[in-house]
Amino acid sequence: MRYTFRKDTWGHGYATEAMQGLIDYIKKFRTMRGIEGCVVSENPGSQRVLEKLGMTFLEDVTLSKIDGSQTFKGKKFQRIF
Ligand SMILES: CC(C)(COP(=O)(O)OP(=O)(O)OC[C@H]1O[C@@H](n2cnc3c(N)ncnc32)[C@H](O)[C@@H]1OP(=O)(O)O)[C@@H](O)C(=O)NCCC(=O)NCCS
Repeated sequence: MRYTFRKDTWGHGYATEAMQGLIDYIKKFRTMRGIEGCVVSENPGSQRVLEKLGMTFLEDVTLSKIDGSQTFKGKKFQRIF
């Protein structure tokens, strides 16, 4: 799953709230043993969202646009339930 929020909605806790809802669903229905999330390294706001969700840094990764036209240095986080 990938998400991007419109700029005028940033900083209101929506990303954290949406992902917390997904985590609550996964834990309630035991649909997965854990989750992973990747962020672009130069985006501390995205990293902060994952930290607020109780996720921890796992490894550095290379991320790419869906069409493969551009790559970015990224970080992978995980949380095991
Ligand atoms: C990144 C994004 C998903 C976050 O969504 P959001 O709804 O604003 O996130 P939240 O409000 O739930 O939380 C953001 C947290 O990051 C923090 N933050 C934002 N910018 C920051 C920065 N430059 N440095 C450090 N922390 C930052 C906020 O203070 C907040 O943490 P806090 O609650 O402890 O204060 C959203 O800004 C977005 O879609 N950005 C555009 C696309 C993008 O950058 N995508 C990510 C690619 S990895």
